[in-house]
Amino acid sequence: MSAAGEMERKYVLRSWSVQNKNKYEEVNRAEGCWFWNTDGKKYLDFSSQLVNMNIGHKHPKVIEAIKEQMDKVCYVTPNYASEPRGKLAELIANHTPGDLCKTLFTLGGAEANDNAIKIARAYTGRFKVLARYRSYHGATYGAITLTGDPRRPPVEPGIPGVVHVFEPYCYRCSFGKSYPGCGLECAEHVREVIQYEGPNNVAAFFVEPVTGTNGVFVPPKEYLPRIREICDEFGVLLVADEVMTGWGRTGKWFGVDNWDVVPDIMTMAKGLTQGYIPLGAVVVNQKIADYFEDNMLWCGLTYSGHPLACACGVATVEVYKEEKLIENAAKMGEILKKRLDEIYDAHPSVGDVRSIGLFAAIELVKDRETKEPLSPWNGPDPGIMGKIGACLKEKGIYIYQRWNYLFLAPPTAINEEELNFGMDVIDECLKLADESLNS
Ligand SMILES: Cc1ncc(COP(=O)(O)O)c(C=O)c1O
Repeated sequence: MSAAGEMERKYVLRSWSVQNKNKYEEVNRAEGCWFWNTDGKKYLDFSSQLVNMNIGHKHPKVIEAIKEQMDKVCYVTPNYASEPRGKLAELIANHTPGDLCKTLFTLGGAEANDNAIKIARAYTGRFKVLARYRSYHGATYGAITLTGDPRRPPVEPGIPGVVHVFEPYCYRCSFGKSYPGCGLECAEHVREVIQYEGPNNVAAFFVEPVTGTNGVFVPPKEYLPRIREICDEFGVLLVADEVMTGWGRTGKWFGVDNWDVVPDIMTMAKGLTQGYIPLGAVVVNQKIADYFEDNMLWCGLTYSGHPLACACGVATVEVYKEEKLIENAAKMGEILKKRLDEIYDAHPSVGDVRSIGLFAAIELVKDRETKEPLSPWNGPDPGIMGKIGACLKEKGIYIYQRWNYLFLAPPTAINEEELNFGMDVIDECLKLADESLNS
């Protein structure tokens, strides 16, 4: 273990882990789509770290913009105006859809969702909030209560008033239906839940346009437009959590752009500064912005709109545009889809492949008929996922894994050669999964 690894082991509480199970490999170099450990081993970053490093590591333009801002002023309170903060908020207004127009800056995605809950409750005067079971919205108390996945129950009770609904997971439909011909029951069920909760009590429905860490569920094309209609019918605000799907991940600027749906509130983080400096944001539409012209906004953070983070964000958005990275994500996404289809055909252990742009999941099963997961949902890995992970690492790619899923989300800056290298390695390592079916 390196000296840094030893210090971390001794002094750092690492998130989402039992501490004595952690490994402490040190990374001390990164560039573009690649990073290196201290032994000089090189990895292709096929998950953009935690699906945030969208334009890739160490982009010189972004680094220069941060340095320039440091030379001017590192920090001013949110009560003074600051050029990068205003500029970034304008860029956000210009790139988000519809009349989303005004931004409250936070430090990350969870805080963005917590503040979106407060804003939705204040604006509507209602207190209940809907979210989906298979979802992740962050680890602060409000955001983890919105979250439906297994990260929520250990920290309950959370905040009051959160109600969960089922999601469009067509491969394992909660309603036992198949798309098309399902009557979009996953959306109609939301309508029914709103009626039972009392439409006058429901402030907002939080959705990841494409569910992220719970398995990359790309919804049927009618789903989000129908959810928009249902929200409008009852005056419920639609909040799009674009923390993962925003800024090019799906081959469009934002996930909702794939279906031309305009939310009332959008939350974002990750690809906004892609982690060079942490930053999140809550973006509201004109009506909500107007409401706060005369009403108090009960939200605030010492580091809201930190100038260094905003300068980083401005340069990042410029890079997306100058290097046509959103277009590249769409183009590379086509190649990724083709390679995923080939992987599905070649490997009996692959139950489903799902992708949109450069956002994809491979779902592994013991049996295509029964769809039994290769590794149990929220259970201990019987060993096979660990073996696949070790194989991927050994052959030089880093991939985020969870349960029986492999998540593929390389930087939007990836080129065809790099993408094919990553897919070749996955193809090779999945042979281990196939072999496990017969053992
Ligand atoms: C969809 C979604 N929302 C919110 C969050 C929380 O963001 P953060 O970790 O920056 O608080 C995440 C993190 O992965 C996410 O995927």
